[in-house]
Amino acid sequence: MGNLFPFSLSWKDYLPSGVGVGDHVRNTDVRDIIRLRDGTAVTLRAVRPDDGDLMQDLVRGLSVESRYHRFFHPLHELSPDMLARFLQNDPTGAITLLAVVQQGGKEVAIAMAQYVSDPYPVRGEFAVVVADAWQRGGLATQLIQTLICIARAAGIAILQGDVLADNEGMVRLMVNMGFVLDDSDDGAYLLKASKVLEAPEWKCSPLARLAEGAKRRVEGRMGV
Ligand SMILES: CC(C)(COP(=O)(O)OP(=O)(O)OC[C@H]1O[C@@H](n2cnc3c(N)ncnc32)[C@H](O)[C@@H]1OP(=O)(O)O)[C@@H](O)C(=O)NCCC(=O)NCCS
Repeated sequence: MGNLFPFSLSWKDYLPSGVGVGDHVRNTDVRDIIRLRDGTAVTLRAVRPDDGDLMQDLVRGLSVESRYHRFFHPLHELSPDMLARFLQNDPTGAITLLAVVQQGGKEVAIAMAQYVSDPYPVRGEFAVVVADAWQRGGLATQLIQTLICIARAAGIAILQGDVLADNEGMVRLMVNMGFVLDDSDDGAYLLKASKVLEAPEWKCSPLARLAEGAKRRVEGRMGV
């Protein structure tokens, strides 16, 4: 299928000024190995500047239903501005986590989760998607737990996400994880899932360390 987006610029042209490829927070090497329900080991890590193709392959491989549940419209691939946003790695602004495995000698992304905090630190808006073949293994639960740990360590007060009302799996997952579901101002077909970020009852991933330096830098700028 051809490119559905009438953009001619490379995604690198959409990176915010001051954020160049190779310019991300220093600790992009922090990673966590988690186990899925069947014992499969999966690596969780923060996104890197060169992960555009990995994310694009993940999105292109989703079923129509999964794509719709994640993006609320039937996009085929990420637009350049979405890609640029998803490539940010700043826990006090926007961050994406990838779940990756090795397949055929190369790294493949099987899930991603991200949040954007605006205004920081009042709240973060998050979203998650798991490749169809990897669903129901506990991956989204562990990704959201990790996002919560990072957001909380970054000082963010509340995490929120929009969920289509007919997305039974995500609704159940949100309720299981202690999110409160309210009607959304954006339409009857949408729910707003919210969670106040208190100390989690699970052990936080080492990825929560990503937030420490970022929070210190913001506090330094604000003279806290
Ligand atoms: C919703 C989604 C993120 C769940 O990911 P996942 O890795 O399969 O979730 P988990 O394995 O952690 O599921 C945890 C629990 O959530 C509930 N759940 C998840 N998917 C479900 C489904 N399809 N039907 C019913 N319950 C479901 C179950 O209670 C499940 O626990 P169980 O397997 O012990 O019954 C995944 O199906 C997905 O990516 N869907 C498309 C994108 C999307 O909907 N994103 C959310 C909007 S931001």
